[in-house]
Amino acid sequence: MPNAITMLKSDHATVKRLLRELDETTERSTKQREALVSQIEREIKMHSQIEEEVFYPAFKAKTENTDAEDLFYEAAEEHHVVDMVLPALKSANPKSHEFGAKAKVLKDLIEHHIREEETQMFAQARQLFSDEQLRELGDLMQARKDAAEAMWSNPLLRPVKKLQGVAHKMMPTKMKTAKATAIAKALPDDMRGGR
Ligand SMILES: [Fe+2]
Ligand SMILES: [Fe+2]
Repeated sequence: MPNAITMLKSDHATVKRLLRELDETTERSTKQREALVSQIEREIKMHSQIEEEVFYPAFKAKTENTDAEDLFYEAAEEHHVVDMVLPALKSANPKSHEFGAKAKVLKDLIEHHIREEETQMFAQARQLFSDEQLRELGDLMQARKDAAEAMWSNPLLRPVKKLQGVAHKMMPTKMKTAKATAIAKALPDDMRGGR
């Protein structure tokens, strides 16, 4: 039974390592740049999905009407910025200086986001949820991740994934946070706070 926070932190370590590797590449290593970008895209999308569909709604429900609820809104905005920068990096020419600049911006952005999650949001979550609840959330996230992994490995589903990516990018954060609120409402009572 994975603990939700341990799971998310292990994803963070992977993404940070990949972004560091990408940042060290030059215009001469186009193949490596392309390979790293697709790996980074896959890791980020799967991670954002389990956060947005499981962890964030649970956190929001637990912190409803408290100061800590702002951490949820801030994180959702940062995910939105990543949704903008990632496609820009993907479409940049790996032989260009712009590519290197976009890779650096994405790395800084994600490192900042990860730092805030780990030092603030996860630290709060550790106080608010019991170990058992964190394991329950971990199980839910693992199930989502397995499904997402299957989807990413199936070439036939690539067009569907692409469409989902476009729809996700177009979706204003207001809709994303509304989605999180709806998911949070369906959580069992003992997972929720603010009562
Ligand atoms: Fe996040
Ligand atoms: Fe995260």
